[in-house]
Amino acid sequence: MRIVMIGAGYVGLVSGACLADFGHEVVCVEVDESKVAKLRQGRVPIYEPGLSELVLANQAAGRLAFTTNLEAAGRGAEAIFIAVGTPSLAEVGSADMRFVHEAARNIANVVENFTVVVIKSTVPIGAGDEVERIIAERAPREKFAVVSNPEFLREGAAIADFKRPDRVVIGVEDDRAREVMRQIYQPIERNDGPIVYTSRRSSEMIKYASNVFLAMKVTFINEIADLCERLGADVLDVSHGIGLDDRIGRKFLNPGPGFGGSCFPKDTLALTKLAAEAKAPIRLVETLVDVNDKRKTAMAAKIVGACGGSVAGKRIAVLGLTYKPKTDDMRDAPSLVIVPELQAAGAHVVAYDPEGVGTAKSLLPGVEFADNAYACLNGADAGVVITEWDEFRALDLARVKACLAAPIIVDLRNIYPIEAMKALGFRYVCVGRGFGGEG
Ligand code: UDX
Repeated sequence: MRIVMIGAGYVGLVSGACLADFGHEVVCVEVDESKVAKLRQGRVPIYEPGLSELVLANQAAGRLAFTTNLEAAGRGAEAIFIAVGTPSLAEVGSADMRFVHEAARNIANVVENFTVVVIKSTVPIGAGDEVERIIAERAPREKFAVVSNPEFLREGAAIADFKRPDRVVIGVEDDRAREVMRQIYQPIERNDGPIVYTSRRSSEMIKYASNVFLAMKVTFINEIADLCERLGADVLDVSHGIGLDDRIGRKFLNPGPGFGGSCFPKDTLALTKLAAEAKAPIRLVETLVDVNDKRKTAMAAKIVGACGGSVAGKRIAVLGLTYKPKTDDMRDAPSLVIVPELQAAGAHVVAYDPEGVGTAKSLLPGVEFADNAYACLNGADAGVVITEWDEFRALDLARVKACLAAPIIVDLRNIYPIEAMKALGFRYVCVGRGFGGEG
């Protein structure tokens, strides 16, 4: 199939490269000329494990190209994907649909033969109808069909999630479009990957409901962790014990400093707005948004408490800035709340992140950046783990203690064993691990 992917960001670039790897001819259309120039040279501007190799291999095979020109790319395409951003509208919280609507208007100008317009961006329920209306203003309705095909890609595992998905969801109400989508995802169908065909609105709802449920699951274990600290239970055992129930499942039960990223925060907020407008307020989600926001601030207080109640004039070493490991993405990262709170309390913060420093520098003024974990910890009055990068798990803990001016570690991701930390003489503060975890 000849496919156009509008948007070469985290979702569009991964989706385009994977579809090319399925054997389709893909052209990614990106408005940012400098990004197109880099991509044409095989330089991938985001950090996603395996993506550079996938892009280069498919460019070399002549299946993947990049352009700013939708006019040229779109003519003759059997499917045009919309994979542009739908960020939260500031103050309001609902999804900003400007870029999706702009793409729809541009697509209308290039529709010649029957074209399937595939919305991969996360959009409010019913947004597909608006896209259809916009295109129909300029293109005959029989010449196109709008389909919902949400992504379920986790950053850091996006390629695997695309190629071996738990499910592909397709919201389609046109038989011709359904056949095109079946051909596009044939490689997954062949591998018995379940493809869920449903209505467009149900597909849009599946995306929001999935993300919001996962965010709720994380928020649930975070609150259980706080309770464990008060009552002397160990949240890791609790998480294991409840997760073995296959009605609950073991994933997304790791407590931490709160969820971040480009999806959970915006999707939870957007759904609460959508529900309120629909006069069906989703109060559970309204609460989780508030709980998650407050948690990030509470983590800063936890760090201050671990330092004896004050960080004024102290050097605090922060390991990990990105919202999760295996990405350079800083969007809504807990560090963006925790670090300024520590600075406001008088701390001098030195930070290290394997991939996020380039982005973080402009977001965290006044922070000193180190080149590696040990340099970051050197001379610090406490070390704080915010993001659970594997390289932090592998640190030589005796060397960590020797670097620190005071043997205090606040581990917001429970990556170190309590017993080993105690045996080495650390004041070890972690999340939800009973009375011992309070250090
Ligand atoms: C998420 C969804 O998983 C994905 O399906 C959707 O398409 C996009 O949003 P992503 O944002 O990449 O993917 O990250 P994910 O791994 O889901 O983590 C989201 C947030 O939850 C991160 O801040 C992470 O640190 C946090 N999290 C996740 C926890 O705190 N504990 C967990 O057990 C899992």
